[in-house]
Amino acid sequence: MFAGVAPRYDFLNHLLSGALDVSWRRRSAAALNLPRGARVLDLCCGTGDQALAVRKRGGNVIAGDFCLPMLALAERKYRRHESRRPRGLAADALGLPFGDRRFDAATVSFGLRNVADLEQALRELHRVLEPGARIAILEFAVPEAAWLRTPYLFYFRRVLPALGRMVSSRGSAYAYLPSSVLEFPQRADFVEVMHRTGFTAAQSRDLTGGTVCLYTGTAGGAGP
Ligand SMILES: C[S@@+](CC[C@H](N)C(=O)[O-])C[C@H]1O[C@@H](n2cnc3c(N)ncnc32)[C@H](O)[C@@H]1O
Repeated sequence: MFAGVAPRYDFLNHLLSGALDVSWRRRSAAALNLPRGARVLDLCCGTGDQALAVRKRGGNVIAGDFCLPMLALAERKYRRHESRRPRGLAADALGLPFGDRRFDAATVSFGLRNVADLEQALRELHRVLEPGARIAILEFAVPEAAWLRTPYLFYFRRVLPALGRMVSSRGSAYAYLPSSVLEFPQRADFVEVMHRTGFTAAQSRDLTGGTVCLYTGTAGGAGP
């Protein structure tokens, strides 16, 4: 599915989010409070926008994804940068190809909702992080405020899949998006999964009226 949507992915991302994704990624990168030169993993990196946002904050980024067409598109963007380019790597979130404690921080943006086993992916992220390392995760959510919830659900269930069908030859991927968001743990439920998988001080922050959540936490020393 991701290989199929890759060529139109950036265009649709900016269109369907009204270009708000740029500020969401910036907020996520800023939440890591990186020291310069910190080793950062951006997992489920897609076309590389989150990796580049982290690079801007001074991180040395390894950007992993299991979809090679996504990695190829990301690589084209990285080449436009002179120094500290993110390094792309084929990586499955469920079995990361890194030793323990390899990174000082990690980001995952709009990726964890898609992995087959959320807890396993979080346990893997915890394993490759230094104790005390920060993690920042972006995911879609359903707004809690009633006045926004109804129009948002209409946009999400009806307008967004229709736009996806018009612009992408893989329109079914955009029908999958609403159902995958509605079934995914949000806010306190997601924070609970983070705690269960070894992260401490996990928090959820609503962005853009609660249509997106930024989850942050710290890799605890004890492990899951
Ligand atoms: C919705 S895209 C998000 C891409 C990017 N992080 C962004 O913010 O635009 C989800 C990405 O997760 C990747 N992905 C899904 N399951 C994965 C897994 N098990 N291991 C690695 N990558 C995975 C897909 O290939 C896809 O590129």
